[in-house]
Amino acid sequence: MTSAIIGTGGIGSTIARQLAAGGESLRLASADPGSANALATAIGPGAVVVAGDGDALAGADAVILALRFTVLKGVIDQIAGALTGQLVVVPSNPVSLDGSGQLVHLLPDGPSAGQVVAGWLPPGTQLAMAFGSMRAELLRSAARRSPERAVLFYVADDERAGAGAERLIRVAGFEPVKAGGLGQSGRLEVGGDLHDLVVGPERARSLIGPGRSAVPNR
Ligand SMILES: NC(=O)c1ccc[n+]([C@@H]2O[C@H](COP(=O)([O-])OP(=O)(O)OC[C@H]3O[C@@H](n4cnc5c(N)ncnc54)[C@H](OP(=O)(O)O)[C@@H]3O)[C@@H](O)[C@H]2O)c1
Repeated sequence: MTSAIIGTGGIGSTIARQLAAGGESLRLASADPGSANALATAIGPGAVVVAGDGDALAGADAVILALRFTVLKGVIDQIAGALTGQLVVVPSNPVSLDGSGQLVHLLPDGPSAGQVVAGWLPPGTQLAMAFGSMRAELLRSAARRSPERAVLFYVADDERAGAGAERLIRVAGFEPVKAGGLGQSGRLEVGGDLHDLVVGPERARSLIGPGRSAVPNR
């Protein structure tokens, strides 16, 4: 199958390499064509670079928006016409760095990032927040672990979005575990209790048990 990846920086390039290793065909778009071209060359014939963000979606079964949270809405607005019915996977964490390099949460209170992003998408889009629950280095080192695969947590409200995210997570060399609906995306983010965890399925399921559902959105 084919995935579009928009944004080929730290996390986008890592996701691309893991999906390509699992046999996914990729359409890459980035504001930084140099990094997209270098990535496609490294991956080989399974990846093509396209001219614009919207072009990436042509024929794709899923689109991964591997973008900083601050540019996400602008890109969604530009490609919105092609998103209805599409599986959209978002690894973005709603964080930024301030002038002195300190981590700033962009959504300190209120709805979760997953709920905010869902509100930016056109109706009928299938959204899953996934692939942003680990640093890129961990995503690289924990993929295709043996004998037991490591878990990648995801959240989704829509069943089809969940099924699509699970397929991609397996292709990338992990075992998917749903941590809840979009309102729970904060658990996956920097500062969340499920962030940067490398655990097997049994431990993962114990962590997301019913007793843990009343958590803050970030
Ligand atoms: N890196 C990680 O370890 C990691 C792990 C988990 C989650 N995340 C989350 O993932 C998100 C992305 O992080 P990152 O580290 O990958 O950031 P990054 O290295 O800055 O990569 C973002 C990429 O998006 C490109 N871009 C910017 N505007 C674009 C546009 N309009 N259309 C297409 N591409 C565009 C950037 O190009 P330019 O460089 O030219 O702007 C860059 O290649 C963040 O929200 C972060 O919190 C990151």
